[in-house]
Amino acid sequence: MKITKLNEVQISNKNKEKEQFAIDVLTGFTSSPKSLSSKYFYDDYGSQLFQAITQQEDYYLTNIELNILQNSKDALPELVQGEEIDIIELGAGDGHKTKILLQGFLDSGFRVNFYPIDISYEAMNLLNKNIQDSENLFIHGVVGEYIDGLRYVRSLSQNQQIVLFLGSNLGNFDMVSSQVFLRKVWKSMNAADYLFTGFDLKKDVSVLTKAYNDKQGYTRKFNLNLLTRMNNELGANFQLEDFQHFGVYNPRLGAMESYLLSLKEQTVYIKELERSFNFDAYEPIHLEYSFKFSHKDIAFLCEQTGYKIKHNFTDEKNYFVNSLWEVVKN
Ligand code: AVJ
Repeated sequence: MKITKLNEVQISNKNKEKEQFAIDVLTGFTSSPKSLSSKYFYDDYGSQLFQAITQQEDYYLTNIELNILQNSKDALPELVQGEEIDIIELGAGDGHKTKILLQGFLDSGFRVNFYPIDISYEAMNLLNKNIQDSENLFIHGVVGEYIDGLRYVRSLSQNQQIVLFLGSNLGNFDMVSSQVFLRKVWKSMNAADYLFTGFDLKKDVSVLTKAYNDKQGYTRKFNLNLLTRMNNELGANFQLEDFQHFGVYNPRLGAMESYLLSLKEQTVYIKELERSFNFDAYEPIHLEYSFKFSHKDIAFLCEQTGYKIKHNFTDEKNYFVNSLWEVVKN
């Protein structure tokens, strides 16, 4: 497998990352309600915790999607048609889901060029261990931001593309950001290319609530890890036991939301910012949206951003959808 780093200065970027983290904490903590972006969940420990979450019975999303992929891997190449394809994945992780889809295309006689795009070089190395080049499979990993990666891949090849955005990752974006993102992806593709996205469906609130408040407490740890990150990286003095994890469904937004609540009135000092922040008793910090979709929501988003639905793959409980969209350009 070949790996290209779009931004060669990964290491000196560490300082820039820390600076950005500090700025985002400052902006978030001076807003009302206080907030912090969910992108900061995924340091090494946070990524491990997310892995642990996906293995919980309560967190149904990952297993159900895995089943859907297993069941759709032979139909997908038939819908897409052709002899050679560029499969581009946004945020490939360790690649265990993708492996199933790649095998489907290979079994159908496709020549496959697989371009995983991930911001993390570590993730790329992990993927490298799990998926190898073979007779009809050529892998070229791209370390960088999604949209930069997509543009880069397009500059290398004019082959038919299918872009994978698995998991329910789009759900972390609010509606406007989703539209902007889908539109940027659209721009990097040609007519009759495809986007294959995972959506978690709207469902019984008690099922959703359990998924984001798992019995073993991994989601709680996942949220509290953000305080640990601020302690370690920005010299903050959060006491973890003074904050409570709260995961709740907001029916007006159609989203699960994660909060940390300050259990008492307190002041926290953040050295990197050289200032302190007051928390009232039970004051929330908003950490995450996980938007849930109806079939109607998905159809609307699809139409509006320049695609048409080719096929929806779902499970028998109708909990999750992997939706294949065809790029429309007139
Ligand atoms: C990785 C964004 C799909 O929103 O369900 C899991 C992250 N947050 N438990 C999701 C998450 C709390 C997850 N995604």
